[in-house]
Amino acid sequence: MKIYTDGFFSVDPKHGFLPIKEPLASLPEAYAALQALIDAMPIRKADNSPGLLAEERAFEKAALALPNYREVVKGESDPFVLAALFRSYSFIASAYTLAPAHHHYIKTGKYGQAHAVLPKNIAQAFVAVAEKLDVFPWLDYHYAYSLGNYQKRNKDEGFAWTNLSMAAKFSGMDDERGFIMLHVDINQYSPDLVKAVFGLTAEGVDEHTTSSLQLMAATLHKMNARRKLMWEASRWKHYNDFRVFIMGVKGNLDIFPNGLLYEGVWEEPRAYRGQTGAQDNIIPTADIASGVIHYYPENQLTTYLMDLRQYRPKCVQQFFQALTKAMEKNPLVERLAAENNFDGMEHLMQVYEEIYLFRNGHWQFVQKYIMQNTAYPRATGGTPITSWIPNQIKAVLKAMHVLAAALAKSPRWDKTAWQEGFDRKVKLLNKQLALVAIDAFDPEEIFKLNLSHGLQDY
Ligand code: HEM
Repeated sequence: MKIYTDGFFSVDPKHGFLPIKEPLASLPEAYAALQALIDAMPIRKADNSPGLLAEERAFEKAALALPNYREVVKGESDPFVLAALFRSYSFIASAYTLAPAHHHYIKTGKYGQAHAVLPKNIAQAFVAVAEKLDVFPWLDYHYAYSLGNYQKRNKDEGFAWTNLSMAAKFSGMDDERGFIMLHVDINQYSPDLVKAVFGLTAEGVDEHTTSSLQLMAATLHKMNARRKLMWEASRWKHYNDFRVFIMGVKGNLDIFPNGLLYEGVWEEPRAYRGQTGAQDNIIPTADIASGVIHYYPENQLTTYLMDLRQYRPKCVQQFFQALTKAMEKNPLVERLAAENNFDGMEHLMQVYEEIYLFRNGHWQFVQKYIMQNTAYPRATGGTPITSWIPNQIKAVLKAMHVLAAALAKSPRWDKTAWQEGFDRKVKLLNKQLALVAIDAFDPEEIFKLNLSHGLQDY
């Protein structure tokens, strides 16, 4: 596989999906007023005093006074400056438009409508930097909210979420930091995931495939262990303190009924999707490489996940395309079966198990952090969340089922033990799906079910 890079990200076995070095903490001096606005923005500022978003209309007033940096932005070429500029304008555009929705939520418990016009002084510079990076002008996961937004507190230490802070923030509270910095933490193992898939796409001798699958399973296992820390990194009851600010325009008609007009840029309103972990690369990479992607159902969630490919840096999109092509040329399960590579098959089953545990645990996040907190049935990416996510769990179960048939030929395969675990997963999923089919379902029931099947996430 070729290495794809834009000078900020480089998808390779050394950097994985993380930026090639720590993102800039703040903008260069030329953008002093923009940086000052970012620092003054959070509901709770770094010195613990209330920031502009704590007071109704205060942020909008300050944002309207910002100089228009469009021409300066156009002269930039350093990828790290461009990424920090994109991050800053993304935060300002979301804070400006969504501040009324946030204040309405505080007063009534329901999201109010956002501003429908992004003023010219913000819109023109934002679109200029988005064009330079060749991405949509809206808060994303890569450059803006998550991967391109971390700062190590102690520079000599690692990527544990406890050692990470956010360069730009909305709420400024610890639950926001824990929530999004844990995504960065999980990605500390992404170099090994990329190394493993590079190994799978190499024209393969048997041992190469086997060791790559072993590495992939072990890496996903470590990632799952970090993922589970979400329950302590960010308290679910506090998800709504910052959630509204990561909402997108597309699919969120109650908040943005008429899209968003970028004043001085386009005549017609635009609608882009919101920031979401569904823009992360771990699970899509695992799905493409392991073949789970062949079992995705044909439904709106799958369409949405494919649409989200466009909401990633170009180098990541190219990596996905190259990986898809390589795996199609040399499909994994067929390759393993042709070689009677039972070790490889067992590692692949372990990969499926980890993808399953990721998705089933993640489904429990959605129940607790979203369903139990709000009656609003739309996710930040704009999907109707109640019933969609489990469909992707079904895809994993189907892939497992097919692989088990190939493994049946292995003399040491313990089919009875595997089948028992598999049946438990199927039963649990069916019961969960029956539950969410009821209009007024109780998310707590999902937890009780997971507990009774020994598959609780915490
Ligand atoms: C409290 C924690 C989390 C919540 C509440 C949450 C919520 C959601 C929601 C609502 C979706 C549906 C799609 C959308 O509209 O965006 C989604 C999808 C997704 N999220 Fe998360 N998420 C959380 C943590 C994470 C983490 C830590 C990761 C990985 C680093 C992640 C990765 C994904 C992926 C890959 C999808 C696509 C669906 C799939 O492939 O199964 N999420 N998430």
